[in-house]
Amino acid sequence: MCGIIGYTGKKNSVEVLIEGLKRMEYRGYDSSGIAILNDNNEIVTIKKKGEIQKLINAINDRKYPSHTGIAHTRWATHGEPNDINAHPHSDCKNEISIVHNGIVENFKSLKDYLLSKGHKFVSETDTEIIVHLIEEFAEDNDLLTAVKKALKKIKGTYGLLVISKKLPNTIIAARMGSPLVIGKSDKQMIIASDASAIISHTNQVLYLEEGEIAEITVNDINISNIFSNHITDPKFIEIDMTLEQIEKGGYEHFMLKEIYEQPESIRNTIRGRLDKTNGTIRLNGIKKYINDLKDADRIIITACGTSWHAALLGKYLIENFANIPVEVDYASEFRYRNPIVRKNTVVIAISQSGETADTIAAIYEAKRKNAIVLGICNVIGSTIARITDAGIYMHAGPEIGVASTKAFTSQVTVLLLLAILLGRKHHMSFDEGLHLIKELEKIPDKINEILNSRKYIQKLSKQLYKHTNFLYLGRGFNYPVALEGALKLKEISYIHAEGYPAAEMKHGPIALIDDNMPALVIALKDSIYEKIITNIKEIKARKGHVISIATKGDKEIGSMLKDVIYIPDTFEPMAPLLSIIPLQMISYEIAVLRKLDVDKPRNLAKSVTVE
Ligand code: AGP
Ligand code: GLU
Repeated sequence: MCGIIGYTGKKNSVEVLIEGLKRMEYRGYDSSGIAILNDNNEIVTIKKKGEIQKLINAINDRKYPSHTGIAHTRWATHGEPNDINAHPHSDCKNEISIVHNGIVENFKSLKDYLLSKGHKFVSETDTEIIVHLIEEFAEDNDLLTAVKKALKKIKGTYGLLVISKKLPNTIIAARMGSPLVIGKSDKQMIIASDASAIISHTNQVLYLEEGEIAEITVNDINISNIFSNHITDPKFIEIDMTLEQIEKGGYEHFMLKEIYEQPESIRNTIRGRLDKTNGTIRLNGIKKYINDLKDADRIIITACGTSWHAALLGKYLIENFANIPVEVDYASEFRYRNPIVRKNTVVIAISQSGETADTIAAIYEAKRKNAIVLGICNVIGSTIARITDAGIYMHAGPEIGVASTKAFTSQVTVLLLLAILLGRKHHMSFDEGLHLIKELEKIPDKINEILNSRKYIQKLSKQLYKHTNFLYLGRGFNYPVALEGALKLKEISYIHAEGYPAAEMKHGPIALIDDNMPALVIALKDSIYEKIITNIKEIKARKGHVISIATKGDKEIGSMLKDVIYIPDTFEPMAPLLSIIPLQMISYEIAVLRKLDVDKPRNLAKSVTVE
């Protein structure tokens, strides 16, 4: 994905655009660029490979008086990250400029067509064809009509912003498959990929819908449909996001801040949803579909990455509490393998951002097969939140760090709530429901206790950070946690790490064990404790270095291992909410020790809005 922003209004557009880009840098950081209409009504473009700071250095102290402009921070799909491929891209005469988030799938044939018409291309991007297409149609049409004509030729996805010399103080914005939010305040309009770039100016926003195009000036906004020309009345809503939520608030990195926010984010996830009088859970968002879920022959949960790990836990939780078969599918696989969706199958899609292209495609596939599709999302008003039949918001607050932390624990909390609710609809007793609810309320304080052990985790990380391979092992509810722990290390430390169900070790991976392969083993005092102790012994017998996450007060493990991180005891199905915390902390400390950019790991972007 990438971040795009446009501004027209009373302020200097360069300052507003740069501030917005910085807030969206987590969405992509291969390159960034800006194009403004200056006071002489010329388009000035500046773009640079690498972080936004490089662009800021290139702009330097030069004054660019301008009140209208567009900007982009890129996560490259077509063409390597360099200055030339950076957006914005212009037409042959430098009269039109665009920024684009998405992919033009049929760019090859369109490029051949445009080359035959004499257009000159400078970059290797798919995006550049859009601006030449607009130029081609602008010969005989006004700009809005030209943009519409161009977009009708495109197969693929776009969040698109267009400026033109011929239409000063105007921005055209179009959306298909990539999000766009428009913010309005006194004598200014800001259009961005996400609200974090808008919130310091206004909380009055409008989410552009799929297939819509808007012509935006300071005083006016006209929205119509690209394909049908149907006109929509602009309806702004107030969003509930504060500046404080999207700033680092004294923490060195967003990831660290978000790790430490987990007691609060989990409290927010459960707020208003615990019904102690009836020993059950209230999930108003999916009320209408609760009986479909209860009577489902099968639930399919689909997601990607960390959200997929939460989904796997969802399977363990729902099957455990509600006795409904659950299947978990990578969204990218689900969409292409002709999945079996029967009359009574309910599909649940999990996504922090609500914008992941693979997950969106999986939802459409499920809908084509007539399934009820529910969403578990964090970002309010996101695409997935809107295209699903109903859903449950995570309420974790904005997650900026590319490595997901608080979103994961909120996803697991939502799944726990759902599992308890479905359990109560089946055979779970009032007492058991209440018992679970009461324990869930204690989880935030227990997380705080783990967060207090940072010094010990830092010491441990110093022993570990030079290793190049790690194993993460867990069983039962802690197997998905092992997978998530390994992903966290891979993502931000660039260390090869594999998560495994601990007992699978002996079927192959045990061959990897030597004194250079640390194994992080989640070995809690639960129903499979004895089994996992056996697995630890197997590793130790082969000179492996075991670091264990164990239950506070477990003396046995303390006498067996030197490196143990103790966490408070809880009910077995809730343990992942605690056991993941030290694993997140270890990945963070190791990345810091390796001097890596924790919030902007290489090759990644916060959410992947392309296939
Ligand atoms: C998490 O640390 C990753 N950055 C990534 O795996 C992420 O979870 C995945 O891309 C799914 O994103 P989503 O939850 O926004 O759909
Ligand atoms: N496809 C465009 C490019 O590679 C935009 C990518 C994006 O959305 O991040 O430049």
